[in-house]
Amino acid sequence: MRRAIFPGSFDPLTNGHLDVISRSAPLFDEMIVAVLNNAEKHPMFTVEERCEMIRDVLPSVETNGCKLFVESFTGLTAEFARRSGATAIVRGIRAVSDYEYELRMALMNRRLEPEIETVFLMAGEEYSYVSSTLMKQVFELGGRVEGLIPEIVEARMREKLGTQDD
Ligand code: PNS
Repeated sequence: MRRAIFPGSFDPLTNGHLDVISRSAPLFDEMIVAVLNNAEKHPMFTVEERCEMIRDVLPSVETNGCKLFVESFTGLTAEFARRSGATAIVRGIRAVSDYEYELRMALMNRRLEPEIETVFLMAGEEYSYVSSTLMKQVFELGGRVEGLIPEIVEARMREKLGTQDD
């Protein structure tokens, strides 16, 4: 049984994340999309909303038999991976600029949990510039983000903006 986690903030899920999930899932029997519940940040979506949106979208992902789960976690990713019985942490690399941060995280996670390997996948080039932060910024300023985030997520972002006070 090969189980992996795919950790992240997912605020919100983008098509870049989905691309990494669909590329990596066939390598494993089970994969947990692990949503960080980070109290320090001020997310657009609550961790429950993020998990719900991911659960709504995942059935459309082709996984070649890999079972996908969505869970939130607090604390260390490496510890969550161990507790979950995972042997791999999946991360996507979009461009060289991601490498340094990802390398530091992978080395630290390996120090914390030497049995767990980080597996890097290159995101599809069409998503090389797509990040949750950029998507929120462009959307909030009225720019078009179709094709870069799932439709469900876009609808939820529209609702969110509509209900904002400012
Ligand atoms: O989607 P992101 O924001 O790039 O994901 C970053 C994430 C959640 C993987 C990273 O911030 C993380 O692992 N946070 C949990 C706390 C932790 O384990 N920190 C040490 C990492 S070496």
